[in-house]
Amino acid sequence: MRIAITDAREGMKVARDVFSKDGRVLLKAGSLLTESSIRYLKKQGVIAIEIEDRLLSGRKPVRPNSDPVWQEIISEAEHTVRDIWNSVSQGRGIHISRIERIVDSIIQELLQREITYPKLVDIRALDDYTFTHSVNVCVLSLIMGIAKGYSEDELFELGIGSLLHDLGKIIIPPEILGKADTLSAEEMEIVRKHPAYGFSLLVQESEININSSLIAYQHHERYDGSGYPRGLKGDEIHEYAQIVAIVDVYDALTTDRIYRNRIQPYEAVEMLIAMSGRGFNPDYVKLFLKNVEIYPVGSIVELNNGSLGIITGVDKNMPVRPQILLLKWEGERLVPTGDEVDLMKEVTLFITRVIKLDKELLEKVLGNS
Ligand SMILES: [Fe+2]
Repeated sequence: MRIAITDAREGMKVARDVFSKDGRVLLKAGSLLTESSIRYLKKQGVIAIEIEDRLLSGRKPVRPNSDPVWQEIISEAEHTVRDIWNSVSQGRGIHISRIERIVDSIIQELLQREITYPKLVDIRALDDYTFTHSVNVCVLSLIMGIAKGYSEDELFELGIGSLLHDLGKIIIPPEILGKADTLSAEEMEIVRKHPAYGFSLLVQESEININSSLIAYQHHERYDGSGYPRGLKGDEIHEYAQIVAIVDVYDALTTDRIYRNRIQPYEAVEMLIAMSGRGFNPDYVKLFLKNVEIYPVGSIVELNNGSLGIITGVDKNMPVRPQILLLKWEGERLVPTGDEVDLMKEVTLFITRVIKLDKELLEKVLGNS
């Protein structure tokens, strides 16, 4: 069982070797944890470890977005982005080893479990948008990179570049970035400089691979040449930047912003499909739709006819038209009505709202039905 280092206790048995970032074994599998070894692992920046737990073996994997280890990694990633922002805006450099450690943790978690759920942080303060958005873009890009069969080195380059893709925004005046009204042409011109600013900040850091820096430079380029800053076309755009372009738009559309409310995931998907072959590489749009869960099984949703339901199955080729078991209120509890709808067949119905992800209720209703 994988646990956060903050939950590690004396006497627990380590199930897998614990490594440092540079590949040294910090603690061997089979060791019993002591107060001092826990302190040592924390000091070395270890975030999570695998421990033996016979009682819990055979237990189903926990959903990533309610899993404490994953939550801890995500919140550490957000803090890291925030600290890098502060550090760079004060003229200090980027703390590379910290960012490498967090990207490595995200990659290891994604490789070990099947995490495909996009919305990592559901309730976000508008102030935190840049940080949570950066982390979401990083995780979604890595899900695509894994699906594409990238090596760990490639995932690492993609992870670092996607986490820092908008770093250039620190040079844009906050009153322009936070403006609720439409930007003037001059203001737009200034915002459009953030890819080049980001590139020049990243390229100064010798430890950051040029491919990662290119993500910052090219994530607003578009497949058909309609993007900025250089109007690159097709494969002139680095494939990492082509991936990040898609997830950047998807995450931005499905999040509340100062100047507009979020749109529903299915509407965002329709926009991606509409932009496929124009703004985005069609192969990557397909890859996104096949590998990122738009509506995870277990999501409680509201339909356009007002009924509530829980998603019980999703066809990967049509991720926005899942199968749903209808629910009704019985006192304070949601219970199945006994009716099912398949949105592939009921073409007039669509999801208007995702209320929450509730795996417990899913197990209960599937057990009862
Ligand atoms: Fe951007």
